[in-house]
Amino acid sequence: MNNASVNVTVVGLQWGDEGKGKVVDALSRGCRYVVRFCGGANAGHTVRVGEERYALHLIPSGILHENVVNVIGNGVAFDPAVAWQEIDALRQRGVKVAAGNLRISAAAQVVMPWHGMEDRLSEGRLGDRKIGTTARGIGPCYADKARRTTAVRVGELLDPAALREKVRRIADVKARTFEALYEGPDPIDAEAIAEEFIEHGRRLGPMIANTGALLRRAIASREPILFEGGQGSMLDIDHGTYPFVTSSPVTACGVPAGAGVPPSAVGQVVGLVKAYTSRVGAGPFPTEQDNETGQRLRDRGHEYGTTTGRPRRCGWLDAFAVRYAADLSGAGEIALALLDVLSGFDELKICTGYRLAGRDMEDFDPQIMGEVECVYETVPGWDEEIAGSASFDDLPDAARRYVDTVEALLGRPVGLIGVGPDREATIVHHTGVRGLRA
Ligand code: IMP
Repeated sequence: MNNASVNVTVVGLQWGDEGKGKVVDALSRGCRYVVRFCGGANAGHTVRVGEERYALHLIPSGILHENVVNVIGNGVAFDPAVAWQEIDALRQRGVKVAAGNLRISAAAQVVMPWHGMEDRLSEGRLGDRKIGTTARGIGPCYADKARRTTAVRVGELLDPAALREKVRRIADVKARTFEALYEGPDPIDAEAIAEEFIEHGRRLGPMIANTGALLRRAIASREPILFEGGQGSMLDIDHGTYPFVTSSPVTACGVPAGAGVPPSAVGQVVGLVKAYTSRVGAGPFPTEQDNETGQRLRDRGHEYGTTTGRPRRCGWLDAFAVRYAADLSGAGEIALALLDVLSGFDELKICTGYRLAGRDMEDFDPQIMGEVECVYETVPGWDEEIAGSASFDDLPDAARRYVDTVEALLGRPVGLIGVGPDREATIVHHTGVRGLRA
């Protein structure tokens, strides 16, 4: 049975940090399951509830809702140490986290201590050519997944004797590889790592499950599922600005493989777009404003990484790139985040296309983003702060025009408009998502 009409997938259409945590939080109210299908602790999803601020990296953003079962799918790079930090912090604040509301796929990859080491050693060696990763060991973990013989899956944490053997064997391979490639790497203590991960397995045991089977059962009984994307489409391993990308498929195309569900389960796709653009780490960024405008966006948008604290690079909205990402994921509508950050500019620019060697580009191609020249449409700005606006009609004329221009350039409706960090600071506009329509 196809439950396309009841499921929702939320994906970022830029370079991550589009404010997915808040939208997932809003949409998960009507859902039974919230599922992560890609990435790992490199993600940073922030949800504000009243005065409380929750920064989640690995635990799905549905954890703050009582009746939601949160699922970490097989496509995730799962770091047990980070998971426990998050679970303990949530519990201390009175949020229930138990086997009843958090399920972890036995087939998810485990981020081992040598993955973080390799990430840092490799980046250090690359110098100027580094990717600018979050240093969470994500790339090396997925590299081991593809290599197969040096990978550990979450289900393997449940067999202490076999895990001890495997950790010893892999640690030996890693120690020899690091020694050959890098100067003076830290020694790897295989016995200590084995004990630590056996203990992780013991504590996580009740939450480890065949999550694909769980979700396929939910699909058969038409229970609503929300798939929560991590990162953003321009960081996708296949379709992003390779090699300056993350190491997993992060568009809606990654949902079936990363969650163990059929493509028809993806449902309605909501594409998250920040009203401007930000990027952390290296790689091309055609609309970047490495100037006073960029600094203003950074200050007003508090553009410092949730995971690493790094200042984010900032620039104008790139509608040409976003349209490509929306087409790729089949986004039916856009959630436009952080519109309030744009107050106070005389005029605003939106990139509508690229020129290469004096010619307009017809098809978007992430591989040549570093060489293009942007074509901009300039629209008037507005001075008023809009954080308190409850409806589209409350917005200043110029802000409404900005939203209309975005809809026209992206060729799909803007369903939700974010006008502040609080749960309530969301204007319901042209959404077709069940439970949100006014
Ligand atoms: P990695 O995923 O840590 O390997 O980092 C690869 C690239 O993706 C770097 O440019 C990171 O800054 C970026 N990145 C990874 N996760 C996120 C995210 O959740 N938001 C924004 N950028 C991210």
